[in-house]
This record gives sequence, C-alpha cells and structure tokens, in this order.
Amino acid sequence: MVKTNFTLQQLNGRLKSLKNSLVTRTGIAASVVVVLVAASVCYFSVNGTFDVPDPQEMVGVSWIKPVGSEAAFAGSKTCADCHARESRSYFASPHSRTLHRIAAGEERPEFAAKQTVTDDLNGVRYSLRKGEGKNQVVAASGGGANTEVGEARWVFGSGTRARTYLTQNDSGFLQLRVTYYPPAKMWNFTPGSGPGAPYHEALGDPYSPAQAAACFGCHTTVLTGTRKSLDLTHSLLNVGCESCHGAARNHVDSATGDGAGQLVTPRLHNGPQIMQLCSSCHRMPVATDDAKPMGASESQLARFPGVALVRSRCFIASAGKLSCITCHNPHQSTEQQKPSSFESKCLSCHSTAHQTTCSEGKKSGCINCHMPQESVAGRLPLRFHNHWIRKDPFEMT
Ligand code: HEC
Ligand code: HEC
Ligand code: HEC
Ligand code: HEC
Ligand code: HEC
Ligand code: HEC
Ligand code: HEC
Repeated sequence: MVKTNFTLQQLNGRLKSLKNSLVTRTGIAASVVVVLVAASVCYFSVNGTFDVPDPQEMVGVSWIKPVGSEAAFAGSKTCADCHARESRSYFASPHSRTLHRIAAGEERPEFAAKQTVTDDLNGVRYSLRKGEGKNQVVAASGGGANTEVGEARWVFGSGTRARTYLTQNDSGFLQLRVTYYPPAKMWNFTPGSGPGAPYHEALGDPYSPAQAAACFGCHTTVLTGTRKSLDLTHSLLNVGCESCHGAARNHVDSATGDGAGQLVTPRLHNGPQIMQLCSSCHRMPVATDDAKPMGASESQLARFPGVALVRSRCFIASAGKLSCITCHNPHQSTEQQKPSSFESKCLSCHSTAHQTTCSEGKKSGCINCHMPQESVAGRLPLRFHNHWIRKDPFEMT
C-alpha cells in the first residue's frame, strides 16, 4: 500500500506558495480545499440537495470574477501572430472548443436523432427534437400524459467523448438529463444522472447561477459576473492560452511596443507546479493513503489523472520530475500525439540497464498493459486511461 510521500508533500507545500503567484483566475488561486471539493462535484455531482454550503456552489463562486476583469486578457487568437506553432496545435485541441453557446437559429445535427432514452424506474422517456432553430430534449412521463421541453443553450464537451447540454432562462440553468456520446453516435444518460441516481426534475438538474458557475469555470478562461447573475457575454469561453499562462494583455502590449508588462504567470519550472496547474481543472491530487480519494471508487479513479498518477511508483520514485507534461504536450490533444510518442516517454525511464525495465521483456505496447482504458460511469460509453501506473492495473489493491 502506497503511503504519503515526499513529492506529494512537496506538491502540497507548493500549492500554498503558488496560490499567490497563480493569479490568473480565482479558481486557481482558490484555496486547496475548494479545489478539492471541485473534484467531487464536477460531472458526477448530486446537485441541489446539499446542506449549506453547497459544494458545487462553493466551486462555482470561486471562479467568478467581476465584469471588467476580462480586460487583462488578450484572448487566444491574439497569440497566433507571434506563437504560430503553439497556436496551430492548440486550436486543433479539445481545450479550444470545450464550450459552445448555441447561436440563434443554429441547429445541431445530434438533435435530429430518432433515438429515445428511457428511465423505467421513474417512467420517463426522453426524445430529441430539432427544427426552426430549436434543439430540444423532450421528457415524457405518466405514459406520455405529461411532457416537458428543455431547450439546449450551451454545449459542454468538444465531442471527443461526450457532450452535455445546459438550458438557460432568467432564473438560472438546467443540466439536461441526457448527453450525446459522439464516438458511440448515441444519446444516453448524463453521467451521474442515470436511473436510480437522486432524482430532481424530469428534464435534469436545475442549477442556480452560482452552481452553473462550477461548470463554466473549468470550461472558460475567465468567467465574469456575480453569484446571482453570470455575465457570459464578457466571459472568455473555452480553456484558453491564458488559462495556463495567465492574463497576457500586458505581455501582448509590451511585445507589440505599446506597454511594458510581462506574463502574469511566471514560467513554470518544476513538476509540482505543473501538477498544480493542470489539476486545478483535472482534479487535485489527494493523500495517497486515502483508499477512496474524494469518494471516487476505483472505477472512477481513471477520470482523475492527477489523483491516479500520484499513486504510481513512477511518480513517487521520480522525486518531483514526473508531471503531466512529461508525457503530454500541453498544446496538443492526445490524438495529435502518436501512441509511440507516449511509449517513448515510458522508455526514457525504463530502457537502459541501470533503469527498471519491463519484467515481461516488452519493448512496446506499454499503455495497453499499464495504463488501460476503463469505463468510469457504469455502462455509459465514457472511458479514460487509468493514470495509476502499476504492474497489474487490474489487480484491485
Ligand atoms: C507581438 C508578439 C507577441 C504576441 C502577440 C504574444 N507574444 Fe508571447 N512572446 C513574445 C516574445 C517575443 C516572447 C519571447 C521573449 C520573452 O520571453 O519575453 C514571448 C514569450 C512567451 C512565452 C514564454 C515565456 C517565457 O518565460 O519563456 C509565453 C508562455 C507566451 N509568450 C505566451 C503568450 C500568449 C498566451 C499570448 C497571447 C495571449 C502571447 N504570448 C502573445 C511575443 C508575443
Ligand atoms: C481551465 C481548466 C483546465 C486546465 C488548467 C487544464 N485543462 Fe486539460 N482539459 C480541460 C477540459 C474542460 C477538457 C475537456 C476538453 C473536451 O471538451 O474534450 C480538458 C481536456 C484535456 C485533455 C484531453 C484531450 C484529448 O485529446 O482528449 C488533456 C490531455 C488535457 N486536458 C491535458 C491538460 C494538461 C496537461 C494540462 C496542464 C498543462 C491541462 N490539461 C490543464 C480543462 C483544463
Ligand atoms: C473542476 C473542474 C470542472 C468542473 C467543475 C466541471 N468540469 Fe467538465 N471537465 C473538466 C475536465 C478537466 C474535463 C476533461 C476530462 C474529463 O472528461 O474528466 C471535463 C470534461 C467535460 C465534458 C466532456 C467529457 C469528455 O471527456 O469528453 C463534459 C460534457 C463536461 N465536462 C461537462 C461539465 C458540466 C456540465 C459541468 C457542471 C456540472 C462540469 N463539466 C464541471 C473539468 C470540470
Ligand atoms: C493546458 C495549458 C496550456 C495551454 C492551454 C497553453 N499552454 Fe503554452 N505552455 C504550457 C506549459 C505547461 C508550458 C511549458 C512550461 C511553461 O513554460 O510554463 C507552455 C509553454 C509555452 C511556450 C514556451 C514554449 C517554449 O518552447 O519555450 C509558449 C510560447 C506558449 N506555451 C504559448 C502558448 C500559446 C500561444 C497558447 C495558446 C495558443 C498556449 N501556450 C496554450 C501550458 C499551456
Ligand atoms: C520520469 C521517469 C518515468 C517515466 C516517464 C515513467 N516511469 Fe515508470 N517508473 C519510474 C520509476 C523511477 C519507477 C520505480 C522503479 C523502481 O522502483 O525500481 C517506475 C516504476 C514503474 C512500474 C512498476 C510499478 C510498481 O508498482 O512496481 C511500471 C509498471 C512502470 N513504471 C511503467 C511505466 C510506464 C508504462 C510508463 C509510461 C506510460 C512509465 N512507467 C513512465 C519512472 C518513470
Ligand atoms: C506517464 C505518462 C503520462 C503522464 C505523466 C500523464 N499522462 Fe495523461 N495520458 C497518458 C496517456 C498514454 C494517455 C492516453 C493517450 C491516448 O489516448 O493515446 C493519456 C490520456 C490523458 C487524457 C485523456 C483522457 C484519457 O484518460 O484517455 C487526459 C485528460 C490526461 N491524460 C490528462 C493528464 C493530466 C492532467 C496529467 C497530470 C496530472 C497527466 N495526464 C499525466 C500519459 C500520461
Ligand atoms: C503484454 C502486457 C505488457 C506490455 C506490453 C508491457 N508490460 Fe511491463 N509488465 C507487464 C507485467 C504483467 C508486469 C509485471 C510482472 C510482475 O508481476 O512481476 C510488468 C512489469 C513492468 C515493470 C516493473 C518491472 C519490475 O522489475 O518491477 C516495468 C517498469 C514495466 N513493466 C514497464 C513497461 C514498459 C516501459 C513497457 C513498454 C515499453 C511495458 N512495460 C510493456 C506487462 C506488460
């Protein structure tokens, strides 16, 4: 059993000192506690029935900045002139298109699906409706006697794995109970909202603006407004260059000769800093001797790369050298990176005589055996690679 270790303590120490330097956004600067809470509420959240304070609301509020804050940000498109290479990869990666506002008149093809999704337990049947600029989910209950219609306004998810939709009206938002899974070309329940999950409204989970701010926070570069009313017009949608590099208006002005500023976020030099940055959205690592980190079962661990990775011998025995960007190019999608490029990272630490090499004598195929894909939401088609690198990942420890 893995115990709390040097690098994790170092990481936790870093979190404190980084709190002040990573002033890009309240979310990153938010207390570790809040970020930890983020982990448990994201997508698997059980919303609306919490005792105060509502954890999703706490996370949401931590992301909201006053209108006007966006002025310090230049926007990802501004960077392309001078940083063509990073920009080309970035704009082809899911970070750049993880959130989309459905425009007036826009019709989305997935809403033309003739498919239905049924919750037998509560007697609700979901179907889709498209046309005349509408993209709707229809929830029929009572044998079809009652129908409610939800109009999709916001699309979360680039489509690599899943797309979840939010409605929006004057009082707030609602996360629709069915999600589209592009790889499987099918609609099914939104993770955490399947039959048997705590039941809210037939159409889905209503969110106050502060609760919806949790979703928007992790999927935007700057989220402006107040806890009572989000200002999504001034917000910068999607995970932008400045989500990781900090507000860069001054940097752009100084580079073009109009000002004297630098990047707000200093260059990140070590593993723990990078782990902190990526994990501010991809979920913060927690103590490795916690058998069920943040209540996530073994099967959900695969969704939280940071939480899983810090359990690996690779991480523990590398004394802070191993981080997300050892293997990932932060400007690229996993698709843009060839499997062999990931393997070459494994081999950089596991090929020579004085390193530990595969006891099965394998020279390739590392990922399939040591970081296999796993389902993270029961029978829903949502699969992630488990970042807890082990000799036998399927052996439950
Ligand atoms: C007008 C040209 C220009 C624009 C526009 C520009 N940069 Fe830069 N950037 C530079 C130059 C020149 C350097 C290298 C010199 C330096 O480090 O200051 C640089 C360096 C950087 C670095 C590396 C910093 C380091 O410490 O090594 C990052 C990260 C960066 N820019 C991000 C951005 C982002 C994000 C944007 C868009 C919001 C952007 N830049 C827009 C010219 C530009
Ligand atoms: C501001 C929040 C945020 C930060 C910071 C962030 N990510 Fe992400 N990341 C996301 C979201 C949201 C997605 C989902 C994109 C989608 O809709 O497919 C994602 C997706 C990804 C993916 C999946 C891409 C694919 O090909 O499927 C990788 C890999 C990734 N991020 C790596 C990183 C790394 C490495 C860092 C740190 C250098 C990082 N992320 C920092 C929010 C963030
Ligand atoms: C703590 C930050 C965080 C919060 C809060 C959050 N997300 Fe995400 N979301 C991510 C990251 C990181 C990813 C990419 C990896 C993954 O899917 O877990 C992602 C991925 C997604 C995806 C795409 C799944 C895929 O991988 O293709 C959808 C859809 C999504 N989120 C919807 C939501 C909705 C709706 C909410 C609000 C209930 C929400 N998210 C709240 C960080 C967050
Ligand atoms: C998911 C987080 C993330 C996003 C989004 C992101 N970067 Fe980076 N970028 C990093 C990290 C991490 C590094 C390497 C460590 C560092 O310098 O902080 C880096 C390095 C760089 C460098 C220095 C490269 C070098 O060779 O020295 C530049 C320039 C840069 N990024 C520009 C951009 C631009 C422009 C965008 C948007 C088009 C962007 N980045 C988007 C995380 C990100
Ligand atoms: C930065 C270096 C580094 C990278 C990159 C790395 N590892 Fe490791 N890994 C280590 C170290 C160090 C150990 C501990 C070796 C020891 O105890 O002798 C280790 C241990 C392991 C173990 C044994 C785990 C156990 O529980 O005993 C496996 C399996 C493994 N690595 C596979 C991989 C795979 C597969 C990759 C690529 C996805 C990878 N490693 C990437 C450094 C690394
Ligand atoms: C030892 C190498 C390694 C490290 C370190 C690593 N990853 Fe990964 N990651 C991978 C591989 C391999 C894949 C699967 C790529 C593919 O689909 O071909 C992956 C996939 C992902 C995905 C896509 C979803 C999935 O699971 O298939 C996300 C998101 C992600 N990593 C985030 C992170 C974050 C955040 C960190 C740091 C906390 C991190 N990774 C550290 C190797 C690594
Ligand atoms: C066909 C599946 C398979 C493939 C492919 C594979 N491994 Fe392994 N590997 C194993 C198994 C099984 C063990 C553990 C044997 C045991 O229990 O001692 C292992 C053990 C290891 C160990 C621990 C060795 C030790 O002495 O503790 C490392 C490190 C490792 N593998 C790295 C890799 C790397 C790097 C790659 C890719 C170049 C790779 N493996 C490819 C199945 C595989």
